[in-house]
Amino acid sequence: MYPLVVVCFFWLLPLALTLDAHSPLDCVPRKTVPYHRENGRMFSEEGVWNYSTMLLREDLGLLLLGARENIYALDINNIANKKSSVSWKVTEKQQKECTSKGKNQIECQNYIRVLHTMEDGRMYVCGTNAFNPECDYMSYKDGELILENKAEDGKGKCPFDPFQRFSSIMIDKTLYSATSMNFLGSEPVVMRSSPSSIRTEFKSSWLHEPNFISMAQMPESRASLTGDDDKIYLFFTETAVEYDFYSKLVVSRVARVCKGDLGGQRTLQKKWTSFLKARVDCPVLESQLPYVIQDTYRWCEEGDWRSCVFYAVFTSQSDRVDLSAVCAYRVLDIGRVFSEGKYKTPVTVETSFVKWVMYSGDVPSPRPGACINDEARNQGISQTLDLPDRTLQFIRDRPLMDQAVLPMGERPLLVRRGTAFTRIIVHRTQALDGKKYHVMFIGTEGGSVLKAVNYDKEMFIIEEVQLFQPREPIKVLRFSNTTLYAGSEDGAVQMPFSSCGRSRTCVDCVLARDPYCVWDRTTAQCITLSTANTDSELIQSLWAGDFSLCPASDPVKTVNQTVWLGGNVKLQCPPTSNLAETHWVQDSLPLPSSPRHQILRDSLLILNASASDTGRYRCLSLERSHSGKYTTTVAQYQLRVGLEGLPLRPQARTEGPSLAALQVSVAFLAILLAVLLGWNLYKGHLPLPGPCGRVIGAGRRQNQGAPEEGAACNAVAHLDVSEPGEAESKALVSGVGNCTSNNNHSTGEVALGGGEEGESEARVTFPSLQFIDDESDI
Ligand SMILES: *[C@@H]1O[C@H](CO)[C@@H](O)[C@H](O)[C@H]1NC(C)=O
Ligand SMILES: *[C@@H]1O[C@H](CO)[C@@H](O)[C@H](O)[C@H]1NC(C)=O
Ligand SMILES: *[C@@H]1O[C@H](CO)[C@@H](O)[C@H](O)[C@H]1NC(C)=O
Ligand SMILES: *[C@@H]1O[C@H](CO)[C@@H](O)[C@H](O)[C@H]1NC(C)=O
Repeated sequence: MYPLVVVCFFWLLPLALTLDAHSPLDCVPRKTVPYHRENGRMFSEEGVWNYSTMLLREDLGLLLLGARENIYALDINNIANKKSSVSWKVTEKQQKECTSKGKNQIECQNYIRVLHTMEDGRMYVCGTNAFNPECDYMSYKDGELILENKAEDGKGKCPFDPFQRFSSIMIDKTLYSATSMNFLGSEPVVMRSSPSSIRTEFKSSWLHEPNFISMAQMPESRASLTGDDDKIYLFFTETAVEYDFYSKLVVSRVARVCKGDLGGQRTLQKKWTSFLKARVDCPVLESQLPYVIQDTYRWCEEGDWRSCVFYAVFTSQSDRVDLSAVCAYRVLDIGRVFSEGKYKTPVTVETSFVKWVMYSGDVPSPRPGACINDEARNQGISQTLDLPDRTLQFIRDRPLMDQAVLPMGERPLLVRRGTAFTRIIVHRTQALDGKKYHVMFIGTEGGSVLKAVNYDKEMFIIEEVQLFQPREPIKVLRFSNTTLYAGSEDGAVQMPFSSCGRSRTCVDCVLARDPYCVWDRTTAQCITLSTANTDSELIQSLWAGDFSLCPASDPVKTVNQTVWLGGNVKLQCPPTSNLAETHWVQDSLPLPSSPRHQILRDSLLILNASASDTGRYRCLSLERSHSGKYTTTVAQYQLRVGLEGLPLRPQARTEGPSLAALQVSVAFLAILLAVLLGWNLYKGHLPLPGPCGRVIGAGRRQNQGAPEEGAACNAVAHLDVSEPGEAESKALVSGVGNCTSNNNHSTGEVALGGGEEGESEARVTFPSLQFIDDESDI
């Protein structure tokens, strides 16, 4: 039966992949914001790398940042402002020892990996320390970071290898960690360091080549009816033992241990008696290889652990699929698998080959892996040391649950093709309607952050903001109550939850459906809700994107454009959003794309112009929302086809934007020429002034290009909106910034599309509608 399963796998895989191409799963961000240094404040220091550990100390007004050989204390409000730093380097001797064991110079440095706040306000820091992990205490006094040089052994708390993933949390004074505790990285452990140290068994049935992702505490003893204990949850991936797949198959897991676990008396001495694990599924497409968990974020309602939800990002483990997904898991659903589910048990078949199947025999009492609760106490068992051997032996050999943990709604909240997801955090914010929305910020392999919200079961990606250039993967995400912090190998960036000012028009502000942003009618600006004047008339329409609430806009100005007979011309029309569809109309008739009329993502290209191309061109942008289709006239052109050799009518050259461009280019070239001339004369290269003709020629060429540039400027400068059936309209955008160059990076303007022509064309329909089966408003 098993070979059959494997065959099915492969037979179904291509099928799944083809289905996938047409599935509505792929969400597209409404806007793509290219890299710009004003997207966020950046911190990085010359010669320092790997800014991947962060600790937020709101009490001190600090963001602590751990990098290679350095720890920084940065101003929480402006991380470019370094308050203090401390360096922690390896000694020459340590480095020599490390390199002599075959590691390279770069690896044999001290990568700061652990940063936790202690009960007493100090911090606990660990670094890889040239494959010899060490921990220390650190405090911040009188504006200075101070390391105490305690040099505690960091084995099992911090990885040896800086490239290895690990996880740890500090609860009160106790560190829980999941990492490898030897040089080779072959002894993975989940351990509690003090007061009574305890860890996992070195057995592949417990941890099999794991990659540790994240840990979280759940205060489950609080108001527990069964006298339950607090628990620590751990997410990780490991090589599956339960499938016989011909190659290694990675599965995602959640494990948990009880806080009060002291280990067993004889069996499982100083080992967890409560280590249970289960598979975590994020079913992106059935019959595909399981998706691999990359990060989680625990979100809880204040003071109620039962409300806690783990948001997790997953990526595909197949090279052929570039899908990433977000799945959300209720802690109650995870708990139920552990407390009520069946166990898996290994059975040896024929040739000493081990298969894991559901255990259907008797389960001893107290239930293996359960925390000490009232039921156990009634049996006279008040601590794990009292547990009977039968229970302990059972759990030692069967830590894996049979049932897998399924996400809320049994499907992902969000699926996206392209750049892989790396990290996630979730922030809840109150919108103008008084409702609270969960906003997901997702870091990617390409150094961008996606911002997504679920509006009444419909997933909407508001924007994708490029934070790092070059495109380094986001390695850590944190937030304070107003700001997002992201770290990569190259630096750390601080970004506000929203930059509402990027929307220049009311319509764009409303269609953005950003819970942090509102349109203020009084000042005619898109502003952050929390800073809005409550007396102002504010517009926000999150679910419907109802843009009819917006005031009418001015009509767009017509740009005169001339092209020679047989010449080429490009009419600019920057798209207003990735979800908008662009149409061209010539003299009120739709203009289809043809070899001579090429409709590009941001313009119309007319090749080999003929007399019939004379006319009035309008570029329309169509964007849908729940309250209808909105058509915007983005640009309007009056095109004239001139005969070469005949002089153009004077106004075509003396009026409009071409004149200014001509003047600027002539002035620029004149200055350039003067400088060149001066330099050449100075250097003695040129005995006589000469190349004026060439300059004038260049000026003419510039002249031909000028109307196009002016058109681009105008298209943005007079972006206007007209609703179907409504005549009146008004200018909504003043795009001054875009006029000087087509390079949006220099102005902080939002550029859209970015994708190849045609790629986004098909994506007019709304992104996937994902459902979750409860009523929560993620
Ligand atoms: C540290 O950063 C450098 C530079 O980006 C990178 O090449 C290297 O892989 C990073 N090292 C680790 C351990 O992440
Ligand atoms: C953010 O938190 C700080 C304290 O941590 C508080 O003083 C401030 O008012 C908060 N700001 C907002 C917008 O909630
Ligand atoms: C341009 O169009 C004319 C007819 O309008 C045609 O004769 C000529 O071959 C075309 N030129 C090119 C390069 O396609
Ligand atoms: C465009 O040309 C028309 C006449 O053909 C003229 O009335 C109008 O003012 C011109 N517009 C601009 C912006 O130059």
